[in-house]
Amino acid sequence: MKTQDNRRNIALVGFMGTGKTTVSAWLRDNLGLKEVDTDALIVEREGMAIKDIFALQGEEGFRDRESAAIASLADRRGLVIACGGGAVLRQENVRSLKESSVIVLLTAAPETVLERVRHSDERPLLNGHMDADYIRGLMEKRRAAYEAAADVTVVTDGRAVEDIAKEICAFAFQE
Ligand code: S3P
Repeated sequence: MKTQDNRRNIALVGFMGTGKTTVSAWLRDNLGLKEVDTDALIVEREGMAIKDIFALQGEEGFRDRESAAIASLADRRGLVIACGGGAVLRQENVRSLKESSVIVLLTAAPETVLERVRHSDERPLLNGHMDADYIRGLMEKRRAAYEAAADVTVVTDGRAVEDIAKEICAFAFQE
């Protein structure tokens, strides 16, 4: 399947808990795209959970691995790439994704994000900060980076995955 302007991958970016993994699975199952989750790729390569990489290597160590994972996808096509929530913080990642992918920004209100992530301890940046105000603050710090990366923005609050995915397809596969 060809995306508009031939970039051929769909990259999902956005804050933690905006539904990247769920939407990516839908696109995999319904469009036959191959799914790559950058966090899963890092875990596989390092043989370690994300929170352990943060604990041992710090956030910068994790970001270096994230950049390497994204760079390794540069020549691949026909993918849906679920990016970690901080992937857009490095320009090199955005540049690489833009060359190969239509970049879809998923958004959700801080309260929605909190509802979706509060039972997990797998996100080191939120451990000890499980509240809507903290989430709102971090989201605001990142807002410009998310918006600069996005080709299109899709709101996810209160919506079924199918509805979200169809909006993405209408944009990504337009003639
Ligand atoms: C992060 C988001 C996480 C993961 C890591 C850092 C972030 O991915 O990459 O914990 O900085 O926003 P998800 O967005 O899939 O939770």
